[in-house]
This record gives sequence, structure tokens and C-alpha cells, in this order.
Amino acid sequence: MTTESVQQPSEAQIAVHWREEEYLYPPASFIAQANGTDPALFDRFSLDQFPECFKAYADLLDWDAYWHTTLDTSHPPFWKWFVGGRLNACTNCVDRHLPTRANQAALLWVPEPESEATAAITYRELWRRVNEFAALLRGFAGVATGDRVTFHLPMVPELPVSMLACARLGVIHSEVFGGFSGPACGGRIADSGSKILVTIDGYYRGGELIDHKAKADEAVATAHEQGVDIDKVLVWRRHPGVYSSNTPMVPGRDFFIDEILPEYRDALVDPVSMPAEAPLFLMYTSGTTGKPKGCQHSTGGYLAYVAGTSKYYQDIHPDDTYWCFADIGWITGHSYIVYGPLSLGTTSVMYEGAPTYPDPGRPWRIAERLGVTTFHTAPTTIRMLRKLGPDEPAKYDYRFKHMTTVGEPIEPEVWRWYHQVVGKGQAVIVDTWWQTENGGFLGSTMPALQPMKPGSCGPGVLGIHPVIYDENGEEVPAGSGKAGNICIRNPWPGIFETIWGQPERFVQTYYAKYNRDPKSTDWRDWPYLAGDGAVQAADGYFRILGRVDDVINVAGHRLGTKELESATLTVDEIAEAAAVPVIDELRGRAVEMYVALKPGLTPGADEIEAKVTAAVEREIGKIARPKNVWIVPDMPKTRSGKIMRRVIAAVSNFTDIGDVTTLANPEIVESIQHTVQAAKLERGQSPIELTPEQIAEIQAFGSVE
Ligand code: WTA
Repeated sequence: MTTESVQQPSEAQIAVHWREEEYLYPPASFIAQANGTDPALFDRFSLDQFPECFKAYADLLDWDAYWHTTLDTSHPPFWKWFVGGRLNACTNCVDRHLPTRANQAALLWVPEPESEATAAITYRELWRRVNEFAALLRGFAGVATGDRVTFHLPMVPELPVSMLACARLGVIHSEVFGGFSGPACGGRIADSGSKILVTIDGYYRGGELIDHKAKADEAVATAHEQGVDIDKVLVWRRHPGVYSSNTPMVPGRDFFIDEILPEYRDALVDPVSMPAEAPLFLMYTSGTTGKPKGCQHSTGGYLAYVAGTSKYYQDIHPDDTYWCFADIGWITGHSYIVYGPLSLGTTSVMYEGAPTYPDPGRPWRIAERLGVTTFHTAPTTIRMLRKLGPDEPAKYDYRFKHMTTVGEPIEPEVWRWYHQVVGKGQAVIVDTWWQTENGGFLGSTMPALQPMKPGSCGPGVLGIHPVIYDENGEEVPAGSGKAGNICIRNPWPGIFETIWGQPERFVQTYYAKYNRDPKSTDWRDWPYLAGDGAVQAADGYFRILGRVDDVINVAGHRLGTKELESATLTVDEIAEAAAVPVIDELRGRAVEMYVALKPGLTPGADEIEAKVTAAVEREIGKIARPKNVWIVPDMPKTRSGKIMRRVIAAVSNFTDIGDVTTLANPEIVESIQHTVQAAKLERGQSPIELTPEQIAEIQAFGSVE
């Protein structure tokens, strides 16, 4: 261990003290209809029933061939689930519902403009559209089983149609969040080796018809620079027949899908029967270093896991009207708007636009009009709706039986508003903790069987056995009040199979830290490291504190400090950059960027701030825009030259800077603190009161470096 790492406090060393929150119990009306009401379920999923317990999830699906091996551990930690089994994900989400619910809406799509009607897409209609687009992909675009296809699509029904069409063909889809920039999309195209990009001309957000096709041209250019050439760009049109983008279509490369689809009218495509372990999709997420990681999810294990958790934790019934207010561009949308709900044959609502457009009553108007029974969103949205429209929910006549919060820790007072005001005190809440890598939930309460506790996600879900380890691999006992690294003891069907093209990074990032023997084929030797700090109360409930790596969770979106910093370094004048999180009332965390300029330059601070903001928007997207950009004479550094992010994070959050005597340049800290904090006050960003967990997070930021 170097001296530098010794002086950085780890999560485990920080004593965390807070008030225990009270329990709340589900109403009898919820219990009476719930899917999971038998406490024997917990025994059936106990560790000694592992891995066979997950048969109960796999049996929710239709298989073309049954598996012979539930879990193959022969190449650790590349676990294979349901080996020998074959199935098609599209059949499971669409075809198999036709005999019983062909005329039921599979998707209810709410356009952002209130003047546009909601589209109800029945299972039969979805089946027709998926078949036609699959035929087009195969016939016109020439894709074959095993190829990758990248989508850069917003919240339009063409997105699930495109996903399911790929699934039908055994083609691996890779959806890039619509809000990401063209270059960010291009990098993901190159990494996955896609030859086809599926995009749309425009979509509505915040009252504007956004020109989205413009990003496709940048994406193709970036992919080309990185050595991958796109053959075809397939462009859906927001208003078929009308082109809403200003960028020209490139002849021979760009095609309007609505012009080609008529050739495939009523085409039928036989679903390709895929091995359970064949990849279904890639979903890119940010990590500590390097490029975003393409998390590779399997067909059988993933689908079984999202079906099972949708049934027991989302409590989805086919007759529900289920609204997950996330973006399908993130894992939450893949698992809990598309694959989970549709595999169970329910009606899944999709909304195109911004939560508060045209006013903060919009979500509740949608809920009232569509009869939404089940609602699912993130703390950042809840905070925003609470701030902008605290009394809006009461004005609308809807009634949720079940609500979810996901994506970041939720403050107990925000949780209570969600429960009392949004849920009208009648809905049960599940706080679901998990990650892009995991496929589905890891920690939550079984809604009819385990009480809710504001701010805690709950215990591990069925078949998931979490444990907290300290830095030395010792278990941190429940009720000790100590935080540590939360890990999962056992594999589960939803876990991603690898990082696309980077198997070593997969092992290194998620398993190396606590692996007991790299040769062992016993899964017990391979705890999965989630990268979150957590503390477990005496009752077994976990409270997630946030990332222990250099990932900043902005409004539920994971942004890597390295990505933010590389984007900033594209600005000519900048020599060094460091991104840190600042606690934000609405977004959970916001990004602040510290920059040091190349010698001899004296550009204005406003000019630099504008250039950095533009660079971050260009390279990543608007979601990553820094709240402030501070020019500093030098970064606080260790003697080995590493930037001490926790020190500047403390400056940005007005918390205790801690011991800086061992820095190479301790004198710089005081001047940075003075200038930055004075400027923050001037901008009206006065210090806010932080919880002990938030202070602990800031103190530990960057400690993995
Ligand atoms: C955080 C989103 C507290 C956590 C599904 C995790 C949460 C990261 C919760 C994954 C929760 C997610 N409570 N923190 N209920 N859910 N997180 O990959 O830090 O976008 O590691 O997946 O979000 O974010 P990702």
C-alpha cells in the first residue's frame, strides 16, 4: 500500500450514524391481490436451494428446448445459465400472448404534445409491426443472427418494435440513450462493431421537436474515425411521410423506414430459436476508467430474471396498466418497460416527453386518463415533481396500488412525499437497488410480505444473497453501523455475461477484489463486487450510500469522471481537468469541473466555462453538463502526481477538507477553497445541510484511485 492510499478513508472506515426510519406496511387491498404472498417463497430461494431455485423464474417462459444444466460454472466467473435450453425472447414477449390477449394493448404510447392522441398498440399490432421490421432488417439491411445493430432512439414505440424485431432474429441490439450526443453514440457503434444504425428524424421534448437525425451523421463519422463503417442508417420518422430534420439524407446510406416497410407488408419471420446463453443485447454503462463498458446480457437467464422479478417485485398482473416512467435507453427501461412487463403479457405505458411538460400535473393526468395501476420512477423525477407541483397529485383521480423508486438513494422525506402525496397513502412502495450489469433487481422488499422502510431498499431479493465486505475482505456484520462494499455472494440468471470484447476487464472490475482463488470453479469463491457503499441494519435491510468508484450518479445516470474529463480536455486551452460530484437538491448529484489551463494562457473564465460546457454536451450529451466550471492554478495532488478528487469535492460541497498535509502542494488547497466557495456564494449556491451519508460519500470520493 502506498502512503497516498493509506490517507484516503475507505467507505468501511467511515462510521455512519443516522436515525432508524420506521416501518410501513402494505394495505390489505394490496395483499389481497399480490403475486407474492407465501412466506415459503423465501425458503424456496434460500442459499441451499441455489441454483435450482431459479427454475421457478425460467418456468415463467416458453422454451423451445428445456435446459440440461441450470448453472454451468466451468469458466468462472463467466457463468452460464439454463445451458442446453433454447428460446426466443420475442416469442415470449409477443407471440405467446396472441391466443389469449391479441386485442389487449401491449403498449400505450403517450406523445408529449397533448394535442396528439395516445396510441394503443395491441399485442396483435405489435406482432405485426415486429414481424415486418424484422423482415426489413433481414431483407433490406442484411443483418443475420449474431450481428449487432445500434439504435439511437428516444421514447417512441418504434424503439420496442426495433428491439423485439432484433430479438426475433437473434440479432444483438445495442440501444444508446437518445439524449446522448452523436459522438457518444459513434463510440458505442465502433465498440460493438455494428454495421446498421437505427435512428429517428426527431422527437418531442420540453415542447420542442428536437432534430435527432443530425446526431446520426456525427455518430457515423465518429465510428468511422474509430475504424467501423456503418453500411446503412435506417431512419424512422416521427410523423411518417414528413421529414423533421434539417440534415440531408445521405444517398445510398440513409433510408426512411416508412418508405421501405410497405415492401414487407404482412411479412412473417420465423423466430430464431436461440441458445439460452446467446447474447440478447448490449447496454453501455460508465466505469472508473476507459471507455464505457458494453454489458452483454443473455437471452434465457436475463429474460427469466426480469420475468420473475416483474412478477414478484413489480407485482405485475396481465390486467394491470403498468407505467415505468424511465427511458428505454437505460437498463430500467429494457427490463421493466419492455422485456419484463411484455413477457408477462401486461399493458406497458410509454411516455415520450419531459415529466413537467407542459406543467407538473402531466404525469398525474396521464395516470388518471389511462387508469395506471402501477407506477415506477426515479428519485430525481420525484424530487422535481415535488418541488414544482407539490399539490398536483391531489387534483387528479388516479389510484396507484404499487410504486417503485429506482436509480439512486432516496431521501426519507422525499420517500414520504411519494408515499403520502403521489401514492395517496394507499400504494405500496418498492425501493429497488440494482445496476445495468445486473439485468434486474438485487435489493428490495417483497411488497406484500416485507414492510417498507424509507431510505432503505430492503434485503436481497429472492435468490440474491448480498454481503458487505470491508477492505480486507472481512464481513461487516448487520447492525454494526459500519459501511463497506456491498457484494453478492452468488451468481443469478440476470447477471451480465461479460463486457463486450473485454473479458479481462470484466473479471478485474467485478470479481478480482474478493476472489478467493482464480482457478476455482466453485461460485462461492467469486463474490460479485457492485461498486456501491452500503450499510446493513440489524433487520437485514440495506441502505445504499452510492458509488465507491469514480462514477457520478446525475439524476440516476451514471457518468464516469474519466469520460467527463476527457471531454473537457478536448478544449485546447485546458491542461488538466477533474470532475467531482456536488450534492444537488433535484438531480441528486451534479457535476463540477475543475480545470487548469496550459501555461501562458489567460482566457476569460466565462469563455472557458462555455467551451467546457459545449465540449461535454458534444462528447457525452446535455445530461452531463457541469453545474460549474472552476479554473484553478493547479490541482491538489499526491506526491505521486494523482489528483486528489476528494479534496476538491469537499471544496465544492463546503465540507471538511480533511488532512492535506501529505499532499505535494498543500498550499494550493486554501486558495482554491477561498476562490471557489466565494464564487459559489456569489452565484447563489450557498451550502446546504448534508446528511452523514452524503458527507461520507464526499470524503470517500475517488478513494479507489
Ligand atoms: C445506484 C440503474 C440507491 C447505485 C438500475 C448503482 C441506487 C447505480 C438504487 C446503478 C437504489 C440504483 N438506491 N442507489 N434503489 N438503484 N442505484 O447502472 O449506485 O444506471 O450502482 O442502473 O445506481 O445505476 P445504473
